[in-house]
Amino acid sequence: MAPRNAAWTVLVLLAALTAPDRVSADDALATALEFCNVTASDVAPELRSSLDFVGPLRTVAIPGAEVGYHRFGNTTTGRPPLVLVAGLGSTMSFWSAELLESLAEDQEVIIFDNRGMGYTKDFTTKPLTVPLMANDTLAFVEALELGVKPNLLGLSLGGFIATASAGLHGEHYNKVVIVSGSAGSPESEAPSLQAQQVFSDPNATELDQLNTSFPLQFPVAAEAACRRFIDPDSAVYDTYNGTTFGRQALAILDYFYVETDVWDAVPGIDNDLLLVGGEDDIVVPIQSLRAIAERVPAPWLVVFKEAGHAAMNQYLPTFLQILDTFLSFSTDV
Ligand SMILES: *[C@@H]1O[C@H](CO)[C@@H](O)[C@H](O)[C@H]1NC(C)=O
Ligand SMILES: *[C@@H]1O[C@H](CO)[C@@H](O)[C@H](O)[C@H]1NC(C)=O
Ligand SMILES: *[C@@H]1O[C@H](CO)[C@@H](O)[C@H](O)[C@H]1NC(C)=O
Ligand SMILES: *[C@@H]1O[C@H](CO)[C@@H](O)[C@H](O)[C@H]1NC(C)=O
Ligand SMILES: *[C@@H]1O[C@H](CO)[C@@H](O)[C@H](O)[C@H]1NC(C)=O
Ligand SMILES: *[C@@H]1O[C@H](CO)[C@@H](O)[C@H](O)[C@H]1NC(C)=O
Repeated sequence: MAPRNAAWTVLVLLAALTAPDRVSADDALATALEFCNVTASDVAPELRSSLDFVGPLRTVAIPGAEVGYHRFGNTTTGRPPLVLVAGLGSTMSFWSAELLESLAEDQEVIIFDNRGMGYTKDFTTKPLTVPLMANDTLAFVEALELGVKPNLLGLSLGGFIATASAGLHGEHYNKVVIVSGSAGSPESEAPSLQAQQVFSDPNATELDQLNTSFPLQFPVAAEAACRRFIDPDSAVYDTYNGTTFGRQALAILDYFYVETDVWDAVPGIDNDLLLVGGEDDIVVPIQSLRAIAERVPAPWLVVFKEAGHAAMNQYLPTFLQILDTFLSFSTDV
C-alpha cells in the first residue's frame, strides 16, 4: 500500500485556493527560455492556418452541463470513433495538431472539454469526482448517438476517467487506452512531493512545470520539453478556468485518498486495455499502471524509459504506432 501523505492534502487545498493567480508570465518564462536557449519571440507561435480539419466547435447537452466538442476525421475506415479525455486543468487545446492529424487519418476523432473547463459549461456547483466525470463522459458519448461503442483514450486525470469508464461503464466502450493514468485509491502511489509543490505553488516557473512532465535530467526529455514549450502545436483555441482547476484538484485528492470504487472495479474490466506511461513519472508514478496491469488478464503495458508524465508527447511517433497496432488488433480470423 502506498504511504498516505498528509502534505498532499494541504497542498492540493492550497492549489485549489491559489491556482488562478500565477506569477507574471515574463518572470515565469525566464528560466525555461534560458534552459531551452531561446528568446521570448521564439515561443508560442500563432495557430497554424491548416487546422480547419477539426471542424467547427459543437455543443451538446448532458445532465447539468453543456459540452463543447469537435468531431472530425476519417469515417470510412470501419474503426469506431476515438474519444479523447483531457487531463487536470487541460482543455481540448492540449492535444497537439500532430497527434490529432495522425489519429484523424485512421478513424473519427472526438475531443471535448471536461465539466467546467474550456467550452464546457457546468450548471451545477457540486464537487467534482472522477466517477462523476466518468458519468459525464458516458452521458456525452450517449448524447452523440454514435451507433457503435467508441474507443476511449484518456491522459492523466483523463486517464483516471478512462480507468473509471472501463471499470464502471465498460460495456459502453470498445477498447480503452489509459495514458499516464491510475485506478486511484490508497493502493496507488500518490503524486510525488515535487509535483505537488509545483502544482500548488502559484509562483512555480515554467521550467519547474516542464520538469514535472518531462524528466529534464535526460537529454531526450529536455529536447521534447523544449519542443513543446516553444510550440505546443495546439489545434484549437480554448480557455483555461482556474476555478475548475481547483475543483479537479480536489477530485484527484478524493480519487487517491477516499474513493476506492474504481480500484475495486479493475479486476472486472473486460475491455482491451492499453496502458502507457513513463518510467520517471513524478506526477502519476508508473506504479499505478503496473498495478492495473497486474489485475487484468491481458494488458498491453508500455513503459517508456527516460520519460515522465508526458511520455506520450515525448515519444509521439512511437506512441502512435503502438496505438494504431492496439486499435487494429483483433483475434477474429
Ligand atoms: C542549451 O545550450 C547549452 C550550451 O550550448 C547546451 O549545453 C544545452 O544542451 C542546450 N539546451 C538544450 C535544451 O538544447
Ligand atoms: C480514410 O480511410 C480510407 C480507408 O482506410 C483510406 O483509403 C483513405 O485514404 C482515408 N482518407 C483520409 C483522408 O485519410
Ligand atoms: C453515475 O450515474 C449513475 C447512473 O445514473 C448514478 O447511479 C451514480 O450515482 C452516478 N455517479 C456519480 C458519481 O454521479
Ligand atoms: C509568490 O510571490 C509573491 C511575490 O514575490 C510573494 O509575495 C508570495 O508570497 C509568493 N507565494 C508563494 C506561495 O510562495
Ligand atoms: C528536475 O527535477 C529533478 C528531480 O526530479 C532534479 O534533479 C533536476 O535538477 C530538475 N531539473 C531542472 C532543470 O530543474
Ligand atoms: C469557471 O468555472 C466555474 C465552475 O467551475 C464557473 O462558475 C465560472 O463561470 C467559469 N469561469 C469562466 C470565466 O468561464
